[in-house]
Amino acid sequence: MSGFNFLKAVIKDYKVGAITVSSKYVVQSLMKELGSDFKYIVEYGAGDGIVTKEILKRLSADGRLVAFELNKDFAAELRKINDNRLKVLNDDVIVASRDLKKLGLPRIDAVVSGIPFTVIKPKERSEVILNTYSAINKGGIFLVYQYTPLVLPILKKFFKKVDLSFEPRNFLPYFIMRAKK
Ligand SMILES: C[S@@+](CC[C@H](N)C(=O)[O-])C[C@H]1O[C@@H](n2cnc3c(N)ncnc32)[C@H](O)[C@@H]1O
Repeated sequence: MSGFNFLKAVIKDYKVGAITVSSKYVVQSLMKELGSDFKYIVEYGAGDGIVTKEILKRLSADGRLVAFELNKDFAAELRKINDNRLKVLNDDVIVASRDLKKLGLPRIDAVVSGIPFTVIKPKERSEVILNTYSAINKGGIFLVYQYTPLVLPILKKFFKKVDLSFEPRNFLPYFIMRAKK
């Protein structure tokens, strides 16, 4: 999907929460923070799949990735990715995070999230983070990229170790929070 189409999507749907697809620098920084020690991954807010495709490049042949995307046009784009390790769900993470066991993954090693927490009500914001913490395997990570570090204190409340980095080479710049359970 082109940058222009991404902009059109956000004009129609404020919950998209970004004015453009993540830059290659953001994707590179996310992959660096994610590392390679994972097999079962969940993605929140996969958009048109720019991060999804990079995760798949690094995922083992028997790994699995479940990608949530609320916007149906983006979900349709994601379904064009032809990879049997990927499952795309056109569902709301606020609801779905309440029961991640339902996904049937043997465990969750990492959750990568681009959903815009700023447009989510404070109670639901905390709920998503707590539910995600509960679902992640011990030693696993919750990787969050956002325009603001708003959720940093909530992540610090639950996770053992939280690192914050900044990627300015994006319109707009992103904060990247890596929370380890
Ligand atoms: C900042 S964009 C990131 C898109 C893509 N991952 C990227 O890096 O370019 C956030 C995405 O989260 C999706 N989203 C927002 N709220 C969501 C929710 N509650 N559940 C699932 N997806 C959501 C939006 O539709 C949008 O595609």
